[in-house]
Amino acid sequence: MTDEEIDHLLEKLDLAQKVRLLTGASNWRTHAEPAVGLRPLAFSDGPAGVRGDAWDERDTSLVLPSPTAVGAAWDDELATALGALLAAEARRKSIDVLLAPTLNLHRSPLGGRHFECFSEDPLLTGRIGAALIRGIQSGGVAATPKHFVANDSETDRLTVDVQVDERTLREVYLAPFEAAVEAGTWAVMSSYNQVNGVTMAAGPLLRRPLKSEWGFAGPVVSDWGAVRSLLDTARSAQDLAMGGPDSPWSAGLLDAARKGLVPPEAVDDKVRRLLRLADRVGALAPGRNEPPLVWHPVSAPSDQRALLRRAVAAGSVLLRNEGELLPLDPAALRSVAVIGPHATAVRIQGGGSAEVFPESVVSPLEGIVHALRDTAEVIHTPGLPAGRLPRPLERSVVRDPRDGEPGVLVRLLDEAGGELHAEHRLSGRIVEPALVPPGSRTVEIRALLRPDESGSWTFAVGGWGLISLSVAGETLLTGTFPLDTDDPTRVHVAPPYRCASAELTAGDEVEVVARRRLDPGSGVATILAAARPAGDAAQALAAATAAARAADVAVVVVGTTEESESEGRDRETLALPDGQDELIRAVVEANERTVVIVNSGGPVLLPEGVPAPALLLAWFPGQEAGHGLADVLFGRAEPGGRLPTTWPAAQRDVPVLRTEPEQGRLSYREGPHIGYAAWLRAGTPPAHWFGHGLGYTNWSYESMETPAAVAEGNGFEVRVTLRNTGRRRGREVVQLYLARPDSVVERPMRRLVGYAAVSAEPGEEAVAVVHVPARALAHWSAERHRWESEPGEFLLLGGRSAGDLPLTGVVTASAPLPLSPGATTESALL
Ligand code: BGC
Repeated sequence: MTDEEIDHLLEKLDLAQKVRLLTGASNWRTHAEPAVGLRPLAFSDGPAGVRGDAWDERDTSLVLPSPTAVGAAWDDELATALGALLAAEARRKSIDVLLAPTLNLHRSPLGGRHFECFSEDPLLTGRIGAALIRGIQSGGVAATPKHFVANDSETDRLTVDVQVDERTLREVYLAPFEAAVEAGTWAVMSSYNQVNGVTMAAGPLLRRPLKSEWGFAGPVVSDWGAVRSLLDTARSAQDLAMGGPDSPWSAGLLDAARKGLVPPEAVDDKVRRLLRLADRVGALAPGRNEPPLVWHPVSAPSDQRALLRRAVAAGSVLLRNEGELLPLDPAALRSVAVIGPHATAVRIQGGGSAEVFPESVVSPLEGIVHALRDTAEVIHTPGLPAGRLPRPLERSVVRDPRDGEPGVLVRLLDEAGGELHAEHRLSGRIVEPALVPPGSRTVEIRALLRPDESGSWTFAVGGWGLISLSVAGETLLTGTFPLDTDDPTRVHVAPPYRCASAELTAGDEVEVVARRRLDPGSGVATILAAARPAGDAAQALAAATAAARAADVAVVVVGTTEESESEGRDRETLALPDGQDELIRAVVEANERTVVIVNSGGPVLLPEGVPAPALLLAWFPGQEAGHGLADVLFGRAEPGGRLPTTWPAAQRDVPVLRTEPEQGRLSYREGPHIGYAAWLRAGTPPAHWFGHGLGYTNWSYESMETPAAVAEGNGFEVRVTLRNTGRRRGREVVQLYLARPDSVVERPMRRLVGYAAVSAEPGEEAVAVVHVPARALAHWSAERHRWESEPGEFLLLGGRSAGDLPLTGVVTASAPLPLSPGATTESALL
C-alpha cells in the first residue's frame, strides 16, 4: 500500500477511532477497525519459539536453540533459516507480529537474560539479528527487535537509568538496531529502562536516530506495560502501548488530544505506522493484500526437526579437546557414564517471556542412548541428590482426580466456592486458564500424587495474594502475600513459591490442592509444585564417581537452573549452583576421558585445578538438544560454534560485571570497551577469548590480501587464505578485527569488523572473502553528532578469535573528499 493510500484510510477515522487503536485490545492483540478493514494484529513472544497468544502448555511450539547458541554459530544463513522456521510457526498459530529478536548485548555475564541476546559484540549481534529478521519477514510475519535500547541487564529493569555517552550508544548499543532497520524490520520494541534520565517510551532516541536518521517507517511497540505516563510518551515517537486493554493512553489520550495537549499530527503518525504494519502482515482488508509468498518454509515436521538438530551442533562451542578426546568413536566404546541432573532434566530454553511449551524434548541421555543403541552400555546417575527445589507438577507424576488422566484439574470457583468452570491441564503451572467466567473469585489446582518414595515431600504454591495449600485434606499453608514488584515476569509468569512439607508414604496416593484468590492486581499465575524428599548428597556423588570410574568415557552435563538464570533478575554469581563443581571434580578425577557439557545461557565458572579434557558448551539448545549433542560427541557433526562472548576463568577477572544500579543509575562508565575490548584493555586474559571454538580439524592461516587504500564512506573486501591441515573436512569462521594504535580518538584496542566461514577437505586451501562495511572505519563524533573518519593507516588482524590473530595487514583510509557544490553525504545532512 502506498503512503497516499494509507493517508486515505486515516482520513476515514475520527480522533476517538484513532486513539483506540493505539493501546492493545488485550494482552496480545490490537483493536480491529472495520471502518478501514483492519482486523486485530496478534503478537507473540519471542526469540526461541512462537508461544502463540495464550500461555497454555497444551499449545506446543517448536523450540529453537536460544539466541546465545544462534549467535555462537556465526552463520547468517542458518539464522535466516531459523527465522523462516519462526515465521512458519507464527503463521501456524495465526501470529502477525513476533516479539524478537533481542538485540541487547552481553555487557555483563551476570545479565539474567544473557541467553536471549546473541553476543557481546555489536557487529555479530547486528548481522545475526538482521539475518533472522530477513527470515522471519520472508514469511510475511513482522519481526520486532527489542529492547530499544540499553536494556542489557535485569536489575530494576523497569526504572533503571542507564548512563551512557553518545558515542558509546551509537557505536555499541544502537548499532545492532541500526542493522535491524537496514534489514527492513517492520516493528521495533522500546524498552522499560531510562537512558540518560528519560524513560525509553518517551525517549528522544525513538525519533533520532531511529525514525528520522535511519528511516524506520514502522511502529515503535512498547515493552509490556512500559507506557506508564501520558503526555511525554504520547508526544514522543512511541506509537503503540502494549499489552492492553489498559494504559495511560487508553485512559487519557483522547481527552489530552482534544484539549490540544497532544498534537493531532502525533496521533496521525502513530496510526499511520500501525496501518503500515497491518498492511505488511496482511491485516488490512484481508484478502486484498496477502503477505508475500516469496519464502520457502521448512514445512515438513521432519525437516523442521532436522534443522533444529543441525542448529544444536552448529551453535555448540568446543572450548577444549585434549588429546582429541572428541569425537568419540562409537565402535570403540563399551560403556558410557552419563552424569548430572541436566543429562535428563536439560534446560532447553531460558525462563521468562521467551518460554514456550515443547511438544517433545530429546535429553542428552536420550540422544546418547539413541546414538549408541545396541553398541555400548549407557549408565545414568544424576550425581546430585533429588528433591532440591519444588517443580510445577507434571503429568508424569500426578493425575486429575476427576477423570484420572495424567495431569491436574483446574477449577474456577465463585464466592461461595461453587464451581463455575473446570478444565484438565497437563502442568501445575497455570498462567491462563482457558476460561475465567464472570464471578470467578478463586482458582484451584487439584491433583492426585502417588509418592514413589516415603519421606518428607515439599509442596509449594506460587502466586500473589491470598493462597492456600492442602495435602490429604490437611491445610498446610494459608496466607496473603501482597505484590512486592511491578515486573510483569515476576507478577504474571514466575511468582515466588511458598513452601510447606508433608510426610508421605510410598504408594499411598494423596490429593494435593492449591487455591489462590483472584484479586485485582495479584497477577495471573498460580502454580502447584512439589519436590521429593531430599536425597543424600554423599551417596549421589559416590554413585557418580563409581559410574565414571567403571565406564570407558564419562559425560557430565552441568548447568544453571531457573533460579540462578532467568528473565526478571540478574545472576548473583557465575559459579555453578548446587554443588556441581564438586561433581565435575569427582568425575574428572575418576575418569581421564571425561567430557563436560555446559547447559547454560551465559558463562559459568568451572572448578579450578581440574580441567576437563573436553569442554563443550551446549547453551540452551532447544528441543533437539540430545540428538544434536550426540551428533557432536560421536562426530556426525562438527561443533560449529565460536564464542559469542568472552569466557572468564574467575569472576574477579571480569572487567565489566556490575549490574546493580547505584541510586537508580547504572553507569556504562567503561564506554565502548565492553566484551573482549574490555578484557584487552584490562590486560587480564580470560579463560577463552571471544571467537574461540574448536572444530574437529586444524587450520593454518596463510595470507591476507587487503586493499591498500579505501576512500571514506566505502566498504571493502579482505581475502584470507587458509588451509585445512587436519584429517577431516571442516568449517572455519575467519574473523577480522580492526585496530588503530596511534588514533587521535579513544578506541577499543580492536573491534570485530567482519567474518566469513569457509569449508574445506583435508589438505585443501580455502579463501574467505570477508566484507568490511564502510562504517568500520568511522567513529561517532559526539562534538559534531555525526560519523567521521580518521584518515591514515588502520591495522587489520585476521584469525580465529579476538586473542588468536596470526595475520596482519594495513589499509589506508583516505581523507574525506571535499563536497562538490550540490552534493550531499550522510554526514553533510546531519
Ligand atoms: C519482556 C519482553 C516481552 C514482553 C511480553 C516483557 O516483560 O521484557 O521481552 O516481549 O514482556 O511478554
